[in-house]
Amino acid sequence: MPVVSVLSLKGGVGKTTVALGLAGAAAAQKLRCVVVDLDPQANATTVLAPGDVRFTANDVLTGDRPVPVGDALAVSGWGEPVRVLAGEPALERRNHPLDGRPGRHHVRAALAGLRDADLVLIDCPPSLAELTRNALAASDTALVVTEPTAFALAGAQQALDAVDAVRSAHNLRLRPAGIVVNRFRAGAAEHRFRLDELIAAYRELVIDPVLPERSAVARAQGAGVPIQRWPSPGAREVSRIFAGYLPPLLSSAGAGAGPFSRGGRP
Ligand SMILES: Nc1ncnc2c1ncn2[C@@H]1O[C@H](COP(=O)(O)OP(=O)(O)OP(=O)(O)O)[C@@H](O)[C@H]1O
Ligand SMILES: [Mg+2]
Repeated sequence: MPVVSVLSLKGGVGKTTVALGLAGAAAAQKLRCVVVDLDPQANATTVLAPGDVRFTANDVLTGDRPVPVGDALAVSGWGEPVRVLAGEPALERRNHPLDGRPGRHHVRAALAGLRDADLVLIDCPPSLAELTRNALAASDTALVVTEPTAFALAGAQQALDAVDAVRSAHNLRLRPAGIVVNRFRAGAAEHRFRLDELIAAYRELVIDPVLPERSAVARAQGAGVPIQRWPSPGAREVSRIFAGYLPPLLSSAGAGAGPFSRGGRP
């Protein structure tokens, strides 16, 4: 059961979009997928609209008598194959533990009780603080998301450094699955420049193809449906890209070694 964390230094770059796009791609292939929403903003939970949420990730992650993950999972509004461990605002305090003890293994302990899933996707909050590190400690692979803008290089480096730090301290099987470059506009010279900069620095870690900016992404999210079910050419294009991202994550042999084809780079 591969566990994939989706993370970034910056907010608003597309972590939730990538986590949901992969969940939709998995569901379209009849795979059973669990989305763990570790973001106090709970955006993924909102889009997935699970019907009956009795407990959230916050209840599962407490060190003190945690709720078993099986009791907290809720079937999403997308259907039976996609289940959600819901986020909620109370998660925020787990990013700043008052007792100074981060409990780096709470997510791993919680997921150990998970059965019947082909893929677990963890949507991280917009920081590299405790919740993201806790997610990384429980993951096989880490997908870094960035936009092709001025601080992309520095942001990706900090995210990859966090992956390295958690790997050496807590989780030797953790591998970077790659860097997703999101909201790429083929006509924007700045985007091309920043993409080339990322490729020069990280080579095959930069996942090919990049994710283009398409209005269907926000519209499908607003409607609470998977991009795979949104009827537009842009949605079909983005869905094909997510379907292509899936196999290396499922094999979870880790990446870094270039599991993503480089043929179609713009
Ligand atoms: N490829 C895209 N094309 C068009 N809109 C996009 C694309 N990717 C993301 N967006 C939109 O950008 C906004 C931010 O995306 P998203 O919520 O996925 O980012 P995030 O990194 O999860 O944010 P946060 O850090 O707040 O959790 C959303 O409104 C989303 O619909
Ligand atoms: Mg998000």
